[in-house]
Amino acid sequence: RKRIGILTSGGDCPGLNAVIRAVVSHATLTYDWEVLGISYATQGLLEAKATTLKMHGLDLRGIDPLLSMGGTILGTINKGDTLAHTSEIIAGYQMLELDALIGIGGDGSLSILHNLAHQGNWNFIGVPKTIDNDVALTERSVGFDTAVNTITNALNSLTFTAASHDRVMIVEVMGRKAGHLALQAGIAGGADVILIPEIPYSIEGVCQHLAQLRDRSWRKFAIVVVAEGIEAVKGSADCDGLCQLTTKCGMGQYIADQISHCSAEKIETRVSVLGHIQRGGIPSALDRLVATAFGKTAVDLAAQGKYDQMVAWQNGQVVAVPLQEVMLQSPSPVDANGYLVPIARSLGIYVGNGF
Ligand code: F6P
Repeated sequence: RKRIGILTSGGDCPGLNAVIRAVVSHATLTYDWEVLGISYATQGLLEAKATTLKMHGLDLRGIDPLLSMGGTILGTINKGDTLAHTSEIIAGYQMLELDALIGIGGDGSLSILHNLAHQGNWNFIGVPKTIDNDVALTERSVGFDTAVNTITNALNSLTFTAASHDRVMIVEVMGRKAGHLALQAGIAGGADVILIPEIPYSIEGVCQHLAQLRDRSWRKFAIVVVAEGIEAVKGSADCDGLCQLTTKCGMGQYIADQISHCSAEKIETRVSVLGHIQRGGIPSALDRLVATAFGKTAVDLAAQGKYDQMVAWQNGQVVAVPLQEVMLQSPSPVDANGYLVPIARSLGIYVGNGF
């Protein structure tokens, strides 16, 4: 009987459990394989030598609630020191007598697992997950859609309070150095300004746009979405006020400080940093669908002996792409010339220079 392992690695996101469920269902029902859940990513492989306590025997009885559960029942780590323990981690795969390993991770985790697989001769298959949606060669990663929905809902809520007080609401969203979350949720949530790392912006551009909004329309409020990974504009005054008290000035606060100096007329700003709420929550229907299709396909790849691949979403289909290629092209940024930026601009949203 074949035995496959599954682990989740890197930051959690909604939909991980749905992948686990699909893998267990398909591997068990279709192929009659045993599935071993490995706890806390490579940590579980590292400890396989000493203890099996962190291993979960997953079977059909335990998997039903997983479809709608956020997080990961296997636990995860995103700061493991794999380099110091490479040989023990590699040995963990052999000790557990795995025939194949399915790893669910973002570009960082997949790269680490891909390297370990090469060194250890593992039969490895990757499944992309990240709210940042920056894994290359796949249009969708598990978790992204739910995070876009979470941010969109937050923007809707903030619009009411912004409108009531004539305030400019600045909303800082995650995404590391990619602006996919900010751009897609910003459009869906009716933002007036969207600042993303891929497109340079100017403080004057933001100020002018806000002034035009105030002059042209009856509404005196605005919603500004700021991707956490944008850079401060060279020469701009540093963050002041509260922001100086923190060790790291968040870019939402930075932009709020700049906006408050836009004009002689006082603009009242408030900053919301959405933080890890973007990673939690119940997976959306689309994320469950993507997770299920990815899990099923990963098992099929193992059945066909096609390893060193990542399952990917391309043109509405699930395909397999070489992990090596994914690593070379990740992280994948927003295409500033793609279709979404012009759509945003045609709606009158300021998305940085070029408006
Ligand atoms: O990569 C996912 C992500 O949520 C990023 O958007 C964010 O910058 C980072 O992880 C936060 O990581 P941590 O969980 O370590 O705070």
